[in-house]
Amino acid sequence: MNSTDFEKILFSEQEIEKRVDELADEINNLYGNNPVFLVSVLKGSAPFTVDLMKRLKMDVTLDFIAASSYGTGTDSSGHLTVTKDITLDISGCDVIVIEDIVDSGFTLSKIKEMLKGRGAKSVRIAAMLSKPSRRKVHIDTDFLGYEIPDEFVVGYGLDYAEKYRNLPFIAILSRSVYEK
Ligand code: PRP
Repeated sequence: MNSTDFEKILFSEQEIEKRVDELADEINNLYGNNPVFLVSVLKGSAPFTVDLMKRLKMDVTLDFIAASSYGTGTDSSGHLTVTKDITLDISGCDVIVIEDIVDSGFTLSKIKEMLKGRGAKSVRIAAMLSKPSRRKVHIDTDFLGYEIPDEFVVGYGLDYAEKYRNLPFIAILSRSVYEK
């Protein structure tokens, strides 16, 4: 990896840290001392999950889920397969699903529906990024870092061919990387 891989840095490490502080404040203010159950959607949400949970002041339970949607090209077909389910019981819990990015909205709407069906008391969404122009199904992002245009972004958990997840910043990937 080198700096020419990126067309532009969208959000620096410092900007992300400040935004995560603000999102954690929102969550701390809303839930107070009530415990929350975090469901982190693998793999992209790992850095955001870790950063966010360290700033939460209530009791926190953490579990992970992984899902993949199948469709033609980059579009979701409407079919979501859970490849790794959570292992804990969420009935009666106030759940926050943590995502790196909301694109079509399909993954989150299906996960939210599934968790509600298992008896969660409430299910809210915390997402670092959202591409509203790509939305196919409506989903409320209760705690949102940034809205971004429809660009190929990497870093802070987001990958291209499994690379760049470890970057502490979020950048637009240069076309030269994925067109070569
Ligand atoms: C990404 C992202 C969301 C989903 C969003 O995951 O982390 O889970 O796609 O897309 P949607 O709103 O159109 O459903 P991806 O499948 O790339 O997996 P990864 O996090 O392991 O990279």
